[in-house]
Amino acid sequence: MKKALPALAIAMASLLGSAAYAADAPAAADAPPHQSVDAGGDAIARTCFGCHGVDGVSRGAAPPLKGLPASYLEQAMTNFKSGARPATIMDRIAKGYSEGEIKAMADYFASLK
Ligand code: HEC
Repeated sequence: MKKALPALAIAMASLLGSAAYAADAPAAADAPPHQSVDAGGDAIARTCFGCHGVDGVSRGAAPPLKGLPASYLEQAMTNFKSGARPATIMDRIAKGYSEGEIKAMADYFASLK
């Protein structure tokens, strides 16, 4: 009879374990769904700094963005996105942004003094 105890303990532990897992599952299902929200121009611009330099002041990896008019930036991004303007990388980057985000980013870079 003594030999059966460890087996019983293991069976109980795995039962408890699966009960705990089951209790966790609904919590994960309650997580809010991902929502797509247009990011602000400053937040988007920060993702561009790695190549275009902080505040668009280029150190040579990519052309400078600081000092360009908003209308130029918006048109360039729209053309990259549609494929009208050929690019090595900007076509793929531009596809990731909505019209609203492109406008916000263009206004942000154009506002930098
Ligand atoms: C991985 C590096 C990289 C990142 C990140 C990047 N760019 Fe670029 N960008 C380039 C390169 C390289 C070019 C030159 C065109 C090409 O070859 O794609 C360019 C060109 C541009 C141009 C055209 C400039 C001109 O003088 O006509 C604009 C506008 C631009 N990028 C905006 C952005 C914005 C806005 C972001 C952030 C959302 C961004 N880029 C992120 C590398 C990058």
